[in-house]
Amino acid sequence: MTATQDVIDRIDREKDDYLGELKQYLRIPSISTDPQYKPQVRGAAEYLRDNMRQAGLSAELVDSPTGGNPLVYGEWTGAPGKPTVLFYGHYDVQPVDPVDEWRHDPFEPTLEGDDIICRGATDDKGQSFTHVKAVAAVLAERGALPVNVKLIVEGEEECGGEGIEAFVRADAGDRLACDCVVISDTSMYAPGEPAMLYGLKGLTYVELRVQGPNRDLHSGTFGGSVQNPLNALGHILSSLQDPETGRVLIAGFYDRVRPLEDWERKAWAELPFDEDEYRRELGVPELFGERGYNTRERTWGRPTCDVNGMWGGYQGEGAKTVLPAKAGAKVSMRLVPDQDPKEIADLFRQHVERVTPPGVAVEVREVHGAVPTLIETEGPAMEAAVAAMRDEWGKAPVMIREGGSIPIIATFADVLSKPVLMMGFGLPDDRLHSPNEKFNLQCFYGGIRTVARFLDGLAGQAG
Ligand code: BES
Ligand code: MN
Ligand code: MN
Repeated sequence: MTATQDVIDRIDREKDDYLGELKQYLRIPSISTDPQYKPQVRGAAEYLRDNMRQAGLSAELVDSPTGGNPLVYGEWTGAPGKPTVLFYGHYDVQPVDPVDEWRHDPFEPTLEGDDIICRGATDDKGQSFTHVKAVAAVLAERGALPVNVKLIVEGEEECGGEGIEAFVRADAGDRLACDCVVISDTSMYAPGEPAMLYGLKGLTYVELRVQGPNRDLHSGTFGGSVQNPLNALGHILSSLQDPETGRVLIAGFYDRVRPLEDWERKAWAELPFDEDEYRRELGVPELFGERGYNTRERTWGRPTCDVNGMWGGYQGEGAKTVLPAKAGAKVSMRLVPDQDPKEIADLFRQHVERVTPPGVAVEVREVHGAVPTLIETEGPAMEAAVAAMRDEWGKAPVMIREGGSIPIIATFADVLSKPVLMMGFGLPDDRLHSPNEKFNLQCFYGGIRTVARFLDGLAGQAG
């Protein structure tokens, strides 16, 4: 029997209701990057606000000072003298394309065994909904929470919106004052094997535009007389990485990279991981990355540079002889401490200027960025999180890093100076950002129970 048993029993009794609410929330297509979905994005925020109110929180929409999507702010602060937890999540989701690859309508949550399939199921509507339902369960059972809670659920995480940044910076000292931040927007290590993340990568995302002649030209009549923007783009892109060693060739790119610590290389090597199985599951003939590092080290602890998309010229059926007027590409650089996203963007621009062949004009635009994070793995909040995970899953969480980014974490760390706990309930095969994204129901219910245990644990510690 743990102190939380009363709430655990209630969660188990009410879990079908929680699932029903999650399904309603998932049905709202809150795709933030596409302006066409603005009303639905707002609709998802309103659904969440109302759900928080029904749980007994005070909740409101906060319109973005930058004109972007609103965030949902909820709180319950009836435990003076007790610690305060700030929960963060996002209700916006990624686009659904390629839509043909979905087994069901991407916004009709569908159960396949214990998996709920829907865009946003794991990233991050389902995961962050565990915070709301844990708080709801405790309030329903006891009429009060053991600690104070504040919840921020934003609507621009997936599109690099800056509304939350302004909100957090303006309200940090006052409304957002807290003892720790809890985020559930990452994965467990494996089914039944919890993980706490202590590091995420940063990001510099740029768009490259190459302009040649003022119109598309006949590639026979004009070929050989002007630079072809696609040829130039190909040259620029292939200069970014050494095809043998996997090293990024942008001058200065590695200058600020903090080397991996011996203890983490050792600890990661001890985690169960089958490189060959990983390779087979991805369907590639061999794995490829920076020489001198294994897959874990490459994905969790080393910076990378990847073309995310490129365009130009004729892409339809058959052959059209054309010398395109322009070409373009999107490139992401995933960063590790202590690389700086702005500085990396400058280095990228300088590199492009240096390697661009004659006869075209090239423009580099910064699309968005995120500062890499590494957090303290000790302290009372971390201890409460570890205990909650151990009690729920029967195993202490492993301490790992990840290759994804959550841009606001660096701001939290900067302005709040409080520990940020990445307590994820997803699974590595949740297919976030891909067709048939899913969230496992045991992760959903176990996540709710974990958060409830954490609230009690944190309160007990302080009292
Ligand atoms: N939840 C992810 C980040 C994540 C994914 C962390 C996997 C750990 C493991 C988040 O929603 C996300 O997709 N972030 C973007 C950030 C970008 C749009 C600024 C990313 O990492 O690409
Ligand atoms: Mn996410
Ligand atoms: Mn995401």
